[in-house]
Amino acid sequence: MSKVTEMKHPLISHKLAYIRSKDTGSKYFRELVEEVSMLMAYEETRDLETEEVEVETPICTTKCQMLAGKKMAIVPILRAGLGMVDGILNLIPAAKVGHIGLYRDEETLQPVEYFCKLPQDIAERDVIVVDPMLATGGSAADAITLLKQRGAKKIRLSTLISSPEGIKLVEEQHPDVDIYVAAIDEKLNEKGYIVPGLGDAGDRLFGTK
Ligand code: PRP
Ligand code: URA
Repeated sequence: MSKVTEMKHPLISHKLAYIRSKDTGSKYFRELVEEVSMLMAYEETRDLETEEVEVETPICTTKCQMLAGKKMAIVPILRAGLGMVDGILNLIPAAKVGHIGLYRDEETLQPVEYFCKLPQDIAERDVIVVDPMLATGGSAADAITLLKQRGAKKIRLSTLISSPEGIKLVEEQHPDVDIYVAAIDEKLNEKGYIVPGLGDAGDRLFGTK
């Protein structure tokens, strides 16, 4: 079964309150999404392997731990996932970035794929799929399926706000994928929006409404 980690950190809760507010404009919204994504990446990478290396300090030689060179990929679901990429790259600058374009049909709420460009060696990389919103879960579940079809094996999902329904769907379809979420909200409304949520993440990031 997927491991679901809800971030319970005062800094994340504080920033998330501003992200949710309808009075927060696109510039500040973008900055906050980036900051929260970076804070979440700290937790998401907790289990990365390290190896012992020898380092010479100005005083003596000592044994230290460094990342074991495992290759990472960050895969945002377009458009809103783009807002989370730079925050994670701040911590993992060597990660490659793939893109999966999906939009949710407003009537059926089903995800429609329109773009997919992944690093060539995606099958050898640990992947973090990023999307601020996990609503019905359809977009994230489809993106993960696509990644698996291209050979990706170790996949994590990072999302700012999830509904219980979205988590359930991803858990059912991809029990091998661990889910990291800043907050699990109450429910979906009749239009498939998360309540209380933050509204439409793509529109708020890019000022398109
Ligand atoms: C939003 C969001 C997710 C999806 C979540 O994207 O960023 O990708 O909806 O909904 P789901 O869990 O029910 O699939 P949207 O389709 O609005 O596209 P956009 O990012 O281009 O605005
Ligand atoms: N997509 C969003 O951007 N917000 C929601 O609440 C649900 C789907």
